[in-house]
Amino acid sequence: MTETMTSGAEPPKPYTIIFTTTSIDGRIAGPHGERIQLSCPYDKQRLYLLRGRCDAVMVGANTIINDNPTLRRRLNPKTTRYYRVVIDGKLRIKPTARIITEPGPPLIIITAVDPPKQWQQLETPNQVHIHTIPAKPGQVDLKQALKLLKQRYNIQTLLVEGGGILNHNLLKQHLADELRTTITPHIISAGPTITRDPTGKGNTPPLKLTLYAHETCPCKQCIHLIYLTKPNTKPKIPWSLKQLQQ
Ligand SMILES: NC(=O)c1ccc[n+]([C@@H]2O[C@H](COP(=O)([O-])OP(=O)(O)OC[C@H]3O[C@@H](n4cnc5c(N)ncnc54)[C@H](OP(=O)(O)O)[C@@H]3O)[C@@H](O)[C@H]2O)c1
Repeated sequence: MTETMTSGAEPPKPYTIIFTTTSIDGRIAGPHGERIQLSCPYDKQRLYLLRGRCDAVMVGANTIINDNPTLRRRLNPKTTRYYRVVIDGKLRIKPTARIITEPGPPLIIITAVDPPKQWQQLETPNQVHIHTIPAKPGQVDLKQALKLLKQRYNIQTLLVEGGGILNHNLLKQHLADELRTTITPHIISAGPTITRDPTGKGNTPPLKLTLYAHETCPCKQCIHLIYLTKPNTKPKIPWSLKQLQQ
């Protein structure tokens, strides 16, 4: 199914949590964007349990291109609905990506271009919905995209698993409610960071978040931090590993 929407007024959106695992120097991948094992087993468990609490998981195109994840649920699902969402302005992901070829929950691709024929006749074991929601050429209107996820698919809670460009765009537009990040004992010194503005402008003044909680990982080497983007709010989903395990 393909569909086009245009920009409009202030939309409602799902409760949105960004989750990242970083090195001490804020890197989320290797110097050339290659996947690096930063997570310890507890951090992986934390991420999978959080997936189980959310109605959808979202990533940017580079994360699919570089890591080729399936983004399936792995542990203890607490909600019945579960979608996988990819933001891909120029539709650069390949129809051979595992998220498309391997059986899994429905996939929603949001792009800023009209999908070529190969995408309209896609052969896949999965339900694939493609929506074209441009803000400007190559740029998805993220506000409208989140509105669509809530209104069309009834997605109330959204887990964003990076990468840095998508994280930046969501934070800059005040569309994320939380940033949960695990700092691991590594230093990489080059490569993609937790947030990244490809225009190079960055945030001036810097965005300021509010630290809500922190937890030392059971491995004793990592620290998990829960930041809220709006002061005087509370996380809508449990944050401690113990609570998530219940
Ligand atoms: N450690 C972790 O927790 C973690 C988690 C996830 C990923 N990663 C790493 O992060 C790296 C990828 O991060 P990244 O910063 O390079 O890229 P990314 O955020 O995964 O993807 C960036 C792409 O997403 C699309 N996109 C994002 N916002 C958009 C918008 N508003 N409109 C249109 N398109 C938008 C664009 O695709 P188009 O160019 O097609 O327009 C953009 O180039 C990977 O190497 C992966 O290994 C690490």
